[in-house]
Amino acid sequence: MIGVFDSGHGGLTTLAALQARLPAQQFVYLGDHANAPYGPRTRGEIVELTRAALDRLFRRGCTLVVIACNTAAAVALRDLQQGWLAEAWPDRRALGVFVPVIEALSGRDWADDSPPDDLTGTRIALFATQATVDSGAFAREMRFRARGMEIVQVACPGLVDLLEAGRMEEARALAGGFADTVSEFAPSRAFLGCTHYPLVADAFTTSLGPEVEIISQPDCVADSLFDYLGRHPAHRAAGGTEYLTTGDPGKVRAAAYTLTGRDLAFSKL
Ligand code: DGL
Repeated sequence: MIGVFDSGHGGLTTLAALQARLPAQQFVYLGDHANAPYGPRTRGEIVELTRAALDRLFRRGCTLVVIACNTAAAVALRDLQQGWLAEAWPDRRALGVFVPVIEALSGRDWADDSPPDDLTGTRIALFATQATVDSGAFAREMRFRARGMEIVQVACPGLVDLLEAGRMEEARALAGGFADTVSEFAPSRAFLGCTHYPLVADAFTTSLGPEVEIISQPDCVADSLFDYLGRHPAHRAAGGTEYLTTGDPGKVRAAAYTLTGRDLAFSKL
């Protein structure tokens, strides 16, 4: 059984891509709606909330958890993998969502430690939460692999709050405004580095214009998990998907319907 964890509704964008790529696989989705948004939280809070969520999913029987939340992956994953996870759950695995995107943007394997390639002329705009931007994780990992590349990071405060509340039109307007801030930078590619943002991908696309390629993180993550399971088939299990929330299941179900058009029967964890 594979767990998919997000601070709230955003990870449903990732989960949909995983379900499409691996239709027979059993998943458990956990949205920590009671504690969302994570973006404005401190590092210590994000680490503790992520640890608690992983612990709950492992106790439920997941052998592998995809941390769909970029904020949790950027801020907490490395600490948890090196400390708590290795001690408390040595036989379980947690995967983040940055690695597949960095592989796609840099055009090379994560394990390739040859000198950085010259990607002068590539201009990337990252849209993410404040905590993800502050972590510097994306730019740091890109620079190990690519020199000459220019990266602008745009924090998008308030966007997750509007999406969690299902306020789509206000969310679209806010997203478009954030996208407009990079017009002078003129990116060649953009990365929506928060699972919630693909819910208003149309607003980003309209403001950025057709010449900017938007990298689809859900698709990158789905391809990567597909490959991972080929190498680690023990995590494969057939079954449906269970939807869990730390919040109010009725409200979460209604908001998820507004956001995704899918009627998902959430239960309280
Ligand atoms: N959806 C999460 C992410 O991918 C975090 C959003 C939030 O809770 O602030 O970054």
